[in-house]
Amino acid sequence: MLGATGLLGSKIYDRLHRNGHEVLPASRATGVDAYSGQGVAAALTGADVVVDALDMKTMSRRRATDFFTTCAKNITATAAEVGVGRLVCVSIYGADDPDAGRAYGYYAAKAAQERIYASAQVPATVVLSTQWFELIEDVVRRASLGPVTLLPAMRMAPLSADAAAAAVADVAMNPHSGPTVVVRGAEEADTLDLARVILQERGSIAGRRPRVLRQLPYLGRAIAGGALLPQEADTVVPGGIRDWVRAAH
Ligand SMILES: NC(=O)c1ccc[n+]([C@@H]2O[C@H](COP(=O)([O-])OP(=O)(O)OC[C@H]3O[C@@H](n4cnc5c(N)ncnc54)[C@H](OP(=O)(O)O)[C@@H]3O)[C@@H](O)[C@H]2O)c1
Repeated sequence: MLGATGLLGSKIYDRLHRNGHEVLPASRATGVDAYSGQGVAAALTGADVVVDALDMKTMSRRRATDFFTTCAKNITATAAEVGVGRLVCVSIYGADDPDAGRAYGYYAAKAAQERIYASAQVPATVVLSTQWFELIEDVVRRASLGPVTLLPAMRMAPLSADAAAAAVADVAMNPHSGPTVVVRGAEEADTLDLARVILQERGSIAGRRPRVLRQLPYLGRAIAGGALLPQEADTVVPGGIRDWVRAAH
């Protein structure tokens, strides 16, 4: 389990572990660096399935592309060398949309990662998840200056990281999974709607009470206008943002 200390990876780890699987938690914290390759062969040797839930939080197209492609090449090549049975990689629905990738380099980097998994020698499934509710606080944090928050307009079908982790764990446990699996939330909303609900329900968002809260399409029209919305999905997770906020507190 690569990225086992992360938001999603820790939940996938717990789920697989609870289902009785022997799971090796791997990240730099456990001495495995997927970027440099250090410890990767030892971590992958003997694994039936390898799950990649790695991440680098950056707005830089160059840094994100370097990170995701280098890690994916190291993992797929090593998996073939040591005889791993299957690979599962977590990505984002719509990241491969050319307009979305042109406007937001992180998505182009995720699309490049997906392509490396799709052409791996070892059979691979890319789980394409929509955005998680947890992302909204991150977005607010990054888009705020003092009392002003200017959110990137994104049309989303969000779900919780818990639900996304359950879908990834199911894929890891299912030897018949195909090359892609799509998971989405049932309700569609804009970044601004989601931030407003969290603010209403909690009184603050990411520790802030913005006096000005707006959204602008600065990540491009595709991301604002529906490129991140799957028309068909393997799993549609019920429940919207209000249910999630109320269940969490
Ligand atoms: N947020 C969303 O709405 C959303 C939606 C769909 C898909 N996704 C995708 O889900 C994935 C996981 O995201 P997340 O938010 O759960 O990530 P996260 O919390 O930032 O966790 C990232 C993990 O990667 C590990 N890591 C980073 N660099 C590493 C390296 N060089 N070698 C080994 N491990 C490394 C980190 O552990 P160490 O620091 O210990 O190395 C950590 O365990 C991402 O690929 C993201 O694109 C996110």
